Amino acid sequence: MIDSRQLLQLFPTEADIPPAHRLSGPLHQRVTLVDGELKDWTGGTQQVVSPMRLRDASGALTPLTLGSIPHGGIAEAEEALAAAVAAYDNGRGAWPTMTVAERIACMQTFTKEMVARRAEVVKLLMWEIGKSFADSEKEFDRTVDYIRATIDALRDLDNNSSRFVIAEGTIGQIRRTPLGVVLCMGPYNYPLNETFATLIPALIMGNTLLFKPPKFGVLLFAPLLEAFRSAFPNGVINTVYGQGAEVVPYLLGSGKVNTLTLIGSSKVADHLKKLHPKANRLRAILGLDAKNAAIVLADADIELAVKECLLGALSFNGQRCTALKMLIVHSSIVERFLARFTEELAKLKVGMPWEAGVNITPLPEPGKTAYMTACVEDALAQGARIVNPGGGAHCETFFYPAVVYPVKEGMKLYREEQFGPVVPVMPFDDIETALDYVITSEHGQQVSIFSSDPTEIGTLVDPLVNQVCRVNINCQCQRGPDIFPFTGRKDSAEGTLSVTDALRSFSIRSMVAAKQTDASKKLLDEIVQKHESKFINTGFIF
Ligand code: G3H
Repeated sequence: MIDSRQLLQLFPTEADIPPAHRLSGPLHQRVTLVDGELKDWTGGTQQVVSPMRLRDASGALTPLTLGSIPHGGIAEAEEALAAAVAAYDNGRGAWPTMTVAERIACMQTFTKEMVARRAEVVKLLMWEIGKSFADSEKEFDRTVDYIRATIDALRDLDNNSSRFVIAEGTIGQIRRTPLGVVLCMGPYNYPLNETFATLIPALIMGNTLLFKPPKFGVLLFAPLLEAFRSAFPNGVINTVYGQGAEVVPYLLGSGKVNTLTLIGSSKVADHLKKLHPKANRLRAILGLDAKNAAIVLADADIELAVKECLLGALSFNGQRCTALKMLIVHSSIVERFLARFTEELAKLKVGMPWEAGVNITPLPEPGKTAYMTACVEDALAQGARIVNPGGGAHCETFFYPAVVYPVKEGMKLYREEQFGPVVPVMPFDDIETALDYVITSEHGQQVSIFSSDPTEIGTLVDPLVNQVCRVNINCQCQRGPDIFPFTGRKDSAEGTLSVTDALRSFSIRSMVAAKQTDASKKLLDEIVQKHESKFINTGFIF
């Protein structure tokens, strides 16, 4: 049975770190990207500390500083905002007026540069948030695929708009146009991928950006700053560092941010949106909290349900917004389910992110193991038990997954989004109990249902699709493939993300219209023939 002493031994000594995964030294980022310039930073800085610890011969653990980043304040945020506003120039800037083909070319240049920095970014990603090396590589590659798919989707979108439409005596041409200045903030669990899932479509649609990196996973953007600088016109993308609670309210309060895109908490999003002085002018594209449930019916294939629920609950230590955060299992099979679940859980490898096949790694958020412990203790005090041997053992940033049963209303774990390696399980007899859990939740992202009975599944799917935005049948919840819509109801999301949806989310349709007269036809024809407008054109991007 794993205990805290064993967890301690899993932290490496300096010599234990494989040479291929060592960092060449601390990375002290001393530049910001503002108005097309990598400006030297002489102000305050903030240390970046890894979730991994170094163990010495006596068994003492010391934090590992990975480097430091600029810690800006209002003045720097103001400068970045001014650059983004100037680059947009009320829609007259070089970027928002550029042809789609030209914007695509800039994005292709950026992608090439980004791919060239893959090794550095992946390594930093692993060290900054403790994501396994294999998953860090996957995150990078998925992001590059996403950028390429976005480029293809925009090409199609634009080609489909490269024609005139005639209706009721009116000639029209309709294209998607940018919204203005976008403030983009991503999450720490997918610092590269989910940040870019909003940043890239926002950029390519012609918006100008203020980019505030996530609270963990910041240094990994350092190798990409030069690529951003050289691939895009001045001021199109500007970095903002510093205390979120200070700089972000300032930016929104300025009234100059047109779109807020945030993958984070609904509480923060709620607060921020209210700060904009003209509420109707602010568009928000948000990926927020979730407490996705798995409903395992009496006739479910237990082996399949166990495999998917384990993946769903504990991939990247449960730190996914799509993670299964409550397992609702029919009481007739719950004991068998728990027995198999804990057996399989025991096979998960706990260790350092560079180890092959590792599943459970250190957690980046300070205080997270204490919060996990508090959730478990609260449930124990109210009659639940830890089902798996060693569950809840912890040491510094390591927390060994705890399966907690039976969880019931009133416990923290019943409603709070644990976002970590604790698996609450509750039994049900009547399916209404399971449905009621989903209906009364503040969240509405996804659900998983496990059954082999078509009638049962059909009956459940119909009410559930009106409660959440994706019902997964006999599989865990997840975002991908990235061409599928990713969104949620209630406090889980605003707007929709996917390769094609994001292009729409970060743009608005504008059109030109003229009466269907000979004079108009002649005029429009001449504009097209002589390439007088970038908007009015019938060109095809190959
Ligand atoms: O953290 C939330 C992510 O959107 C989850 O994405 O389902 O691809 O792991 P994923």
